[in-house]
Amino acid sequence: MGVTASAPAKTILFGEHFVVYGEPAIVLAIDKRVQASVELRADQRIYINSLDLGFSGFFTEKSFQPEHGCQEAQKKLEPVRVAIQRVLDRSKRGSGVSVEIRSSIPMAAGLGSSAAVAAAVVVAVSQLLDVELSREEISHIVYEAERFVHGTPSGIDPAISTHGGVLLFRKDRGFTPLDVKQDLPLVIGDTRVKRFTGELVAMVRKRRRRYPSIFDSIMKTGGEIALRAVEALETRDLRTLGELMNINHALLCAIGVSNEPLEKLVDAARKAGALGAKLTGAGGGGCMIALCLPEKTKPVGEAIERAGGTAFLARKTSEGVRIED
Ligand code: MEV
Repeated sequence: MGVTASAPAKTILFGEHFVVYGEPAIVLAIDKRVQASVELRADQRIYINSLDLGFSGFFTEKSFQPEHGCQEAQKKLEPVRVAIQRVLDRSKRGSGVSVEIRSSIPMAAGLGSSAAVAAAVVVAVSQLLDVELSREEISHIVYEAERFVHGTPSGIDPAISTHGGVLLFRKDRGFTPLDVKQDLPLVIGDTRVKRFTGELVAMVRKRRRRYPSIFDSIMKTGGEIALRAVEALETRDLRTLGELMNINHALLCAIGVSNEPLEKLVDAARKAGALGAKLTGAGGGGCMIALCLPEKTKPVGEAIERAGGTAFLARKTSEGVRIED
């Protein structure tokens, strides 16, 4: 008998990059999910098939044998293997597992697909092998897998894919769930430009070394924006939230993580009546988000598409990683 688990995508509303340096950030889980189905194997190998990436192959203790995607598959699947291995290490059963991953989250687009994959895989494998893990432990294993994707993650993606909801996250203090009652109508615009979080985080680090005090004050302001946004969420003040998103986006431009495709979508969304728009995630391509009054989601989505992006509506979800029936 196999087990299937799923975990949500995320969008960072406020504070990406600044969160790596200890500033607060706000992140919400959205209603797009990754599914991982796992089965026991008769041998000791780990087989991973990522249907959306088109990579699959077998890991033994010492080697990798690609099935689809040649040797590149090993690099792409390694974080998933790390997550599985951590659970296998805690299990008394000595068998291998086969894992199949399906996703409705655009990959490498700033929506937390790699953390969602790791969270779904960890929960499915631990259920299959009767390994009891707390949410804290799940998030920690996902964090270890994320370190393969980019060396110095803040931990925000593992936290949201594990817990769901809306979180105020701080690297050194963990997270506080925010009780957001109102709907937050968000249109997501995907530039379809793939990018790598690790490279962008490294680029920001390099620039910060060149202009330490300037970068530190930008980051501190980013943190203040996130805290001000918590108040706006509490008072259901969407207009202020939108304005704060615009200011946050300007700071992300200042540290160099926006680019032309993102700017086009952000500009189109604002002109079509969004309350605010910003890039989300690491930037350099990937996705932007636009906060809208309900009646504006359609024109904003259309404007994003005309500007060259792929638009879709996202709703917040309280559901973190879970076992599927
Ligand atoms: C990636 O989703 C968000 C970044 O802030 C990196 C991180 O927090 O690990 C760019």
